[in-house]
Amino acid sequence: MVVKNLKTKYRMTSLKKILLSVACLMTGLTAGAQTAIGNMNALSDTHAIYRLQTSARYLLLPVEEKEENARVRVIKGHTVVKEFNCRLALDKKDYMVPVDLKDLQGEPLLLDITFSGNRRSTGNINDFAVWKLLKTTDTFDASNRERFRPAYHHTPVYGWMNDPNGMFYKDGVWHLYFQYNPYGSTWENMTWGHSTSRDLIHWQYEGEAIEPDALGTIFSGSSVVDHNNTAGFGAGAIVAMYTSAGANQTQSLAYSTDGGKTFQKYSGNPIITSSLPDFRDPHMFWSEEYGRWYLILAAGQEMQIYSSANLKQWKYESSFGHEYGNHGGVWECPDLFKLPVKNATSAGQDKWVLLCNINPGGPFGGSATQYFTGHFDGHRFVCDTKPEVTKWMDYGKDHYAAVSFDNAPDGRRVALAWMSNWQYANQVPTTQYRSANAVPRDLGLFEYKGDTYLSSTPSKELLTLRGKKGKALTSACELVVDFRHSATVTLSNARGEQLVLTYDADRQTLSMDRTKSGDVQFSEAFPCVTTAPTLGKLGQLRVFIDKCSVEAIDAEGKVAITNLVFPSEPYTKVTLKGKARCAVYNLK
Ligand code: FRU
Repeated sequence: MVVKNLKTKYRMTSLKKILLSVACLMTGLTAGAQTAIGNMNALSDTHAIYRLQTSARYLLLPVEEKEENARVRVIKGHTVVKEFNCRLALDKKDYMVPVDLKDLQGEPLLLDITFSGNRRSTGNINDFAVWKLLKTTDTFDASNRERFRPAYHHTPVYGWMNDPNGMFYKDGVWHLYFQYNPYGSTWENMTWGHSTSRDLIHWQYEGEAIEPDALGTIFSGSSVVDHNNTAGFGAGAIVAMYTSAGANQTQSLAYSTDGGKTFQKYSGNPIITSSLPDFRDPHMFWSEEYGRWYLILAAGQEMQIYSSANLKQWKYESSFGHEYGNHGGVWECPDLFKLPVKNATSAGQDKWVLLCNINPGGPFGGSATQYFTGHFDGHRFVCDTKPEVTKWMDYGKDHYAAVSFDNAPDGRRVALAWMSNWQYANQVPTTQYRSANAVPRDLGLFEYKGDTYLSSTPSKELLTLRGKKGKALTSACELVVDFRHSATVTLSNARGEQLVLTYDADRQTLSMDRTKSGDVQFSEAFPCVTTAPTLGKLGQLRVFIDKCSVEAIDAEGKVAITNLVFPSEPYTKVTLKGKARCAVYNLK
């Protein structure tokens, strides 16, 4: 995906500027200065107060990733107006992050900063690099500075991203919220970031939609379009539910009456509580069949289902999961929806799918998405497979937290995953930003040897990206392989780095080997070969290559493998061995 550069400009009226300059001169500060604009007062060897007054829109903080978090509290008139953790630079900066001073410009502010940990390279708080490097500015330039930033996958313009959250479609626009850290490129300060798209491919960053508060940081959740005003926030209001991650995990509501741009938090929060330590990631949906709202959330090693008439009061219905599927880690980020079965023995048959992301416990270590098929009677989900069977949605290492959009058009069920793995997500070799989403996939169901499986087909919007057909690979392209029997497809560059796809028609498996794919050193868990069952013959395989990822998905959606790769230069050559033919489309 292509993200438009975030270049926010702030303009002040001349009168306001003059007044601010006078005010600042009186306090000994310089209005709108582009360098350090305050003074630091050390209170102990780990605690300082920095006095600041500026007319500029942003305060830029220097981040050094190897440092530990400092707690930053922005205080205006004895009240904390912003609070977050940031790996402030002690020796040198890796990059800068902006603190938005909107509504605080020109005000006398205190930054109350507490450093943690024992790592004190200089030993003296007065010498920490942060004091020399922090600055104010009216524009924060987030132009891409990363060679691994994908061309057609969604990424945050800067900062860290994990799970997709609260996704919905309305009035021609796809809304994607995501677990976001605006103050660094590692997991922290969970906030819902927001991006929108008209075509599921090109995304525009819209800013922070839901920020942490006294109940906790904002963990994963979902949104629904309340067409009939059942909650009383207005017809067509967007109602979001997320986990407030405080001392305990509780569920909270927020609603938007401007189509998902801004959210108000509901005054009755938290609305669902529990004493379980892992109690999170609520996913809501409307059931036409049963005439009410449902939600499914992760509760320890189970998924709990609740129902509601108004999205505010929820009744516990049932739990699912005990002894079913994989329990090698924490159950997270569920989803529950109904789909028609494609080649069902009895025509027109629908089944329910329960998505259950799990970490660790994935088939190749770390994070992965398992699913269950069955029936939901309005109270309980009953799985139609034996408890010991585990079905995986994707057989790569980098497909996690997959959930679907609410209110998608034409009866579509479109899912998006976070393209990383908790084993090394914080270590992948990017700095300005970390993580992308996988390509959007339309979900379906099909039968194979008497069992029902979830199909993931690349969403049709991806076809619109196709440019010229050729033979050479580019850093952002789609390779289409037509298999007649077993074959090996090798993607390689001049440095001898390679990614190998092997289809074994006799064993009915497809595997992806990234052990020699480029930089694999940053984590022991990264080099690997991942193998998927193909559930019958493989016909056409679509391989989406984008700077640092390879997604192999067969045209029918029976098999999907998603893996990150970090080659030192793009793969340019494709070598085929065996019974297959291929073509390459450059993706614009
Ligand atoms: C899954 C997850 C969720 C949680 C979120 C926190 O990746 O652990 O369960 O809500 O990430 O960022």
